[in-house]
Amino acid sequence: MDDRAFLDGLTDILGPKGVATQADDLAPWLTDWRERVTGDALALVSPKNVGQVQDIVRLASDAGVAIVPQGGNTGMVAGGVPCPGDRAILLSLRKMNAIRSIDPADNSLTAEAGAILSHVHAAAEEHGRRFPLSLGAKDSATIGGLIATNAGGTQVLRFGSMRNLTLGVEAVLPDGSLFEGLSTLRKDNRGYDLRQLLAGSEGTLGIITAASLKLIPAAPHRTVAWIGLGSASDALALLRLLESEVGDAVESFELVPQAALELVLKHIPGTRAPLAGEHRWNVLTELRSAADGDELRAQCEAGLAAALDQGLIADAVIAESEAQAEAFCKIREVISEAERADGRAAKHDVSVPVSAMPRFIEDATQAVEDRFAGTRVVAFGHLGDGNVHFNVRAPAGGNDAAWLAETGPEVSSFVHDLTHEVGGSLSAEHGIGQLKLSEFARVADPTRLSALRAIKQALDPLGIMNPGKLVPLANPGDNP
Ligand code: FAD
Ligand code: MLT
Ligand code: ZN
Repeated sequence: MDDRAFLDGLTDILGPKGVATQADDLAPWLTDWRERVTGDALALVSPKNVGQVQDIVRLASDAGVAIVPQGGNTGMVAGGVPCPGDRAILLSLRKMNAIRSIDPADNSLTAEAGAILSHVHAAAEEHGRRFPLSLGAKDSATIGGLIATNAGGTQVLRFGSMRNLTLGVEAVLPDGSLFEGLSTLRKDNRGYDLRQLLAGSEGTLGIITAASLKLIPAAPHRTVAWIGLGSASDALALLRLLESEVGDAVESFELVPQAALELVLKHIPGTRAPLAGEHRWNVLTELRSAADGDELRAQCEAGLAAALDQGLIADAVIAESEAQAEAFCKIREVISEAERADGRAAKHDVSVPVSAMPRFIEDATQAVEDRFAGTRVVAFGHLGDGNVHFNVRAPAGGNDAAWLAETGPEVSSFVHDLTHEVGGSLSAEHGIGQLKLSEFARVADPTRLSALRAIKQALDPLGIMNPGKLVPLANPGDNP
């Protein structure tokens, strides 16, 4: 089938409004959030229902055209944009954004894949419930994209990542069939779990059209604190101390170096440093309780006082109001935006065992800055999960885009090798996409790679679902 016949077929399925082919209409969706990759597509298609998604998949399969599913396009590894030069369509789920149902007695919510995370939060709150996964892109990221990347965020410490919070999935598979897996069962042992295969599959195994999600009871009382301290190992000791004071009320424990705070203050209007002095490291922590806000705050104060006595922290402030709590949290959420505004960096999203992270940050920072003169490491994020965004900023005063193109790959290999040496992962939460494909192929154990390829081949033998992402080709030279 030639391109013309294929595009006519799409218009038959979706009507003219559901198929965009003009360069101007496609352009905003062809470049990833980090502006690292601009791909090509024959069309941007926007189905409104599951039947249309199935018809598109069957047509694309007949025509041998690749399908790239896209939600909010906030992904960090260019998984949601086509590869340059591909004969592909971009399939946007944004019009399939309904909250289909909420069942408070079942503590579950069912939403279409294009539903935006903050809308899901609001819908759950209307029923006295919470959907407890949150991240900086919550006003754009979609349920389908969050599942497809197995997203993490700031509350993983307490509630796990997206796969822990997904009860069921409805998805169109690469042959156009519909997997009707929207169950809200808490226990189901019918063998291989397709829901879990689709979590983290980055659009390579099918198109998620809806999902049922786990809700938890609302916890209206929160205490948010900003703490200044001298080292990442003190920060980890503080986490363990707070946990012993307040138990699992600690939902979030995020590390913010002074350099990241400075980027935020420089680029994001309306932000203010929570503490008067400067500290090499800061921690943002959020504690929540359904029971008693005053007691929670008192426990947090006691924990921080003990940490001060033990010399673990230098200073701390507990938010006095919900507005102040939001302001503290915002500083953490906008770090990526501030970094992007400041210029290019070689970004890494690594995990190591939690207890090894403080040492890793110190050693790897030293090693990178020694090896690549003029670079500065900004490592921030989810310390409590053993995951930091270990970003290496280009030397000041030069052309950072050119530096990234020339030296970035060598820096990334160096960082990934250091991570690998301590049993870590090169992708803690963002996935592989296009940007990490060659590094994944380089460092991954061959058994993992062949199992991945076998699963891909079994479900998508024609290779039409999001090619060039996540699953490295057997011949490394063929990878984009
Ligand atoms: P997209 O970017 O559109 O797509 C991502 C991947 O999912 C692609 O491979 C795409 O093909 C696939 N996909 C999308 N929809 C579907 C579907 N319906 N069916 C099958 N495949 C699909 N991530 C974290 O994990 N933790 C964070 O703390 C975090 N913070 C962020 C902060 C900011 C400011 C930004 C911009 C991003 C952040 N991210 C974070 C990354 C991003 O928000 C997540 O990866 C998110 O899950 C992507 O959702 P999306 O809807 O934008 O997906
Ligand atoms: C975050 O934790 O803020 C993100 O995952 C985004 C990033 O890595 O830039
Ligand atoms: Zn993150």
